[in-house]
Amino acid sequence: MTRFINYGRQCIEEDDIQSVVETLKSDFLTQGPKVKEFENSLTRYCGAGYAVAFSSGTAALHGAYFAMGLGEGDEIVTSPMTFLATSNAALFLGGKPVFVDVEPDTGNIDANLIEQAITGKTKAIVPVHFAGHPCELDKINAIAKANNLFVVEDACHALGAEHLETKTGSCKYSDMVVFSFHPVKTITTGEGGSVLTNDEKFYDKLIMFRQHGVTKAPDKLINKTESDCGWYYEMQHLGYNYRITDIQAALGCSQLKKLDMFIARRREIVEIYRKAFDCNDHFDFSVEKYYAKSGWHLYPIRLKDKHKSKKKEIFTKLRENGLGVQVHYIPVHLQPYYQHLGYKKSLCPNAEEFYHSEISLPLFPSMTNDEVDHVIKTVLNVFESFAIA
Ligand SMILES: Cc1ncc(COP(=O)(O)O)c(C=O)c1O
Repeated sequence: MTRFINYGRQCIEEDDIQSVVETLKSDFLTQGPKVKEFENSLTRYCGAGYAVAFSSGTAALHGAYFAMGLGEGDEIVTSPMTFLATSNAALFLGGKPVFVDVEPDTGNIDANLIEQAITGKTKAIVPVHFAGHPCELDKINAIAKANNLFVVEDACHALGAEHLETKTGSCKYSDMVVFSFHPVKTITTGEGGSVLTNDEKFYDKLIMFRQHGVTKAPDKLINKTESDCGWYYEMQHLGYNYRITDIQAALGCSQLKKLDMFIARRREIVEIYRKAFDCNDHFDFSVEKYYAKSGWHLYPIRLKDKHKSKKKEIFTKLRENGLGVQVHYIPVHLQPYYQHLGYKKSLCPNAEEFYHSEISLPLFPSMTNDEVDHVIKTVLNVFESFAIA
């Protein structure tokens, strides 16, 4: 019998288990050598100057917004087609998310609509690489430069992706890049996240923010007279306990070694899907733009008009047939909390349309070819049954 196949799943192998076990037997469960090793591996892989690992992608976003100085009333221009964390982290600091509509095919922020959303209060543009497909970063970066704004990439879906042959995380087109290592993402640490940057000032702030705004570094102390005391530390900002553990970082180190293999397998499955679903008249599926190599975190399909009114029934039927499909995302501005803040329905028609038609099919590296075939057959059967009904 085929198991329930979720839309995403971690791939944990013997080497990952060994890596974690070694740390469990070591002197450090947290704040030891593994966190730095993981951060160094991330900078090497992505080609950025600095990495700071956090306890989650949400904490990493919070840290990135703090590091760029987001404060009361400052605006970030971002996409509503994302997980709540992208905009919630701005709210944490008193900032205001301004939602810009998305491209109908990729679900990414429409770079052509960004300029008109910029006001005197805008501090940053935060593109979200939906499903792992990079946004049009060269255009976004040019808009940011022309308007003196920061760019923070929410790349929680996009570790291992590329934009114009540049690795996501290099910060070539942005000030900071944020990743999440939740189990459905391209690599996992259980929970975890990181910020990458090429700017030492951001790095220093991120390091402090992760640990209650505290520093011990002699050259960073305000009170220099105490700098020769071995015990001395200073709290210079209001920060949090957003530390990642060495146990998690040990898993991250072994996972990162296999990232290229994971991405290659995701691409292989996507190609099998493409061949099987090509020319079907039930749904459209994502394809990469000329500038993008996607990390394929998700495999989103979009129902054609004739099926849109039956999305709930189709979704339920797919689930009943053992496919752990999911919907990404309910546009953030439609959430009751955001409606209460004054965001209106119809603010982003393409995002709302995307939500009405989107279903994410299973896609993860440890899927067997039999499971991939099973997904294809089940999906086509379910859609055929609705076409006849
Ligand atoms: C686009 C996006 N941003 C931010 C986050 C937050 O990451 P985490 O769950 O690690 O806090 C997620 C996680 O689902 C995400 O998908």
